[in-house]
Amino acid sequence: MKWKCFSYTLSELSFTVKGLILAGGHGTRLRPLTFTGNKHMIPIANKPMILYGLGHLYKAGIKKIAIILGPINEGVKETIGDGSKFGAEITYLYQGDPKGLAHAVLVAEDFLKGDAFVMYLGDNLLKQGVRPLINSYFNNGSDCVICVTPVNDPGRYGIVELDSKGLVSRLVEKPSQAKSNLALAGAYLFNDSIFEAARKIKPSWRNELEITDAIQFLLETGKRISVQRIDGWWKDTGKPDDLLEANQLILDDLQSKLEGNIGEACRITGKVSVGKDTLIRRGTTIKGPVIIGENCEIGPDVYLGPYTSIGDNVKILSGEVEGSIIMQDVFLNCKKRIIDSIIGKRSRIESSETMYPSGLKFVLGESTQCRV
Ligand code: G1P
Repeated sequence: MKWKCFSYTLSELSFTVKGLILAGGHGTRLRPLTFTGNKHMIPIANKPMILYGLGHLYKAGIKKIAIILGPINEGVKETIGDGSKFGAEITYLYQGDPKGLAHAVLVAEDFLKGDAFVMYLGDNLLKQGVRPLINSYFNNGSDCVICVTPVNDPGRYGIVELDSKGLVSRLVEKPSQAKSNLALAGAYLFNDSIFEAARKIKPSWRNELEITDAIQFLLETGKRISVQRIDGWWKDTGKPDDLLEANQLILDDLQSKLEGNIGEACRITGKVSVGKDTLIRRGTTIKGPVIIGENCEIGPDVYLGPYTSIGDNVKILSGEVEGSIIMQDVFLNCKKRIIDSIIGKRSRIESSETMYPSGLKFVLGESTQCRV
């Protein structure tokens, strides 16, 4: 199947490569944000995280895409629909309890069988996109393409060991004593051989069928694995700080666009995007990169510092915000400086100065983190 594709152009490849986006995980390390919402819908620079992966797939010419969902999937179907607005054809599949990435591959077997497919982890952001994997698959006649990059904390990822010729010699999921610092990023290209591998492996210590173990099975059974070194940044958004870093990376490429109303004596510097019907009131300072959604009210005399994303319908009536993700419908009026924070939809933070009895007052969900 793969050899005949040598003569195909990239747009023709769209008929032979399918896509699989995994969005079924519980995202436990992102609680409380993930108690009620799907992790892959958390906005990064005001766009749900899952749309970055989806965008990479359709930009690479992949049209038939399955999205694997778990028990918490509110908003995913509503946002993506049948995919026609993105030029894609989306099929939703349900994993039930997330039992690992290789288990998700088996859930999608009927949909994927017969074609090569790119598997993209919906919580990963990869600047280079997936086209390099597709090129490598067809140029090298591989059964599997993985993409790797050096990391400082190999115990957190699937790790790839290479021999002296640069060929894969071993793959280990989250090694306690890593022999390599090359991590598997969350984009892979497979052919049908992965289904047998996923069926043969046993659950790991975390009781999951690991895709890393399935690739190790491919290696042991003589399949050809190509390694693509990532060009540009990659971010796995497992923890809250990762979300803030991902927000920074995306905002570095922000295009300035001022669609709202900017009041008198406002100072706007750097790359700043302000959405429709947003009002920036008098004396407000915005130092980009900053993105502000539609229908917001900011100011008077508010300061918004670099690497801040503010969703739609947000009101910030006083204080300062920097390096933070403020989701839609948030209300802030606290005359304080908020830094490196993630504030979920419909949250309110108000000053206690003029309210009696005085003191800090909270209604916090489980696993909430505050520094006061
Ligand atoms: C998963 C994979 C791991 C890979 C990582 C990339 O880890 O198991 O091999 O390196 O994604 O994001 P998890 O997010 O399940 O900890």
